[in-house]
Amino acid sequence: MKIFVDSANLNEIEEALKRGFVAGVTTNPSILSKEERTDFRRHIRNIIKLLESYHVGIPLSVEVFTTKPKEMIRQAKEFASEFGDYQGLNVKIPIGWNELQVIHELKQHGIAINCTCCMSFNQVLTAALAGADFVSLFWGRIKDIGYDPRSVMTSIRQAFKQGAISSQVIVGSIRHICDINEAFLAGADIVTVPAKFFPQMVAHPKTDEAVNQFLADFANWGTGG
Ligand code: E4P
Repeated sequence: MKIFVDSANLNEIEEALKRGFVAGVTTNPSILSKEERTDFRRHIRNIIKLLESYHVGIPLSVEVFTTKPKEMIRQAKEFASEFGDYQGLNVKIPIGWNELQVIHELKQHGIAINCTCCMSFNQVLTAALAGADFVSLFWGRIKDIGYDPRSVMTSIRQAFKQGAISSQVIVGSIRHICDINEAFLAGADIVTVPAKFFPQMVAHPKTDEAVNQFLADFANWGTGG
């Protein structure tokens, strides 16, 4: 059970790394487009430098930005040659018929793959069987069209267990903190969370109440009440 940060923002990633609870970073072209415009490679390199400065070799997903299979292969190989010195690098390839062939070929070149944009059981299963190391299931987007992502995740967990499939399922597209709990309970290996939810995950009004009460009681006692 691991939490990744779904961000390409250096500050957000660092705030999570400082607290020690994050075990990976996922990016995608949209997430990258939220950052100050710069050379894409330089930005990925800066993320890698940051991860290395914390001495963590945690997974980092970088997604191809094309729909053409040949170009996907070219980009993935380019990422591997530019950033492959970082052991945690994995390339995100969206699920699809031709994309399965891309995954299969890239695996033969020793490139770690995160098959992304999966919305269904069959997509996750085929991606895993084609050799994806990680498979990303988009929780919020499944809900958007009226389906229950919990039942999709539960079926995947059962099938992976039955088939002894070792790909790790990353649940992404998190829209509320309750999505995180539900995804883990349904069997997700990893949930990748936008950084804005982290402070919310540890906050509770009854915690504030308890801490304030303890401090007030202690202060009263110290001053003789
Ligand atoms: C996961 O790896 C994706 O980057 C992300 O969670 C997609 O979420 P969205 O539905 O908010 O775009």
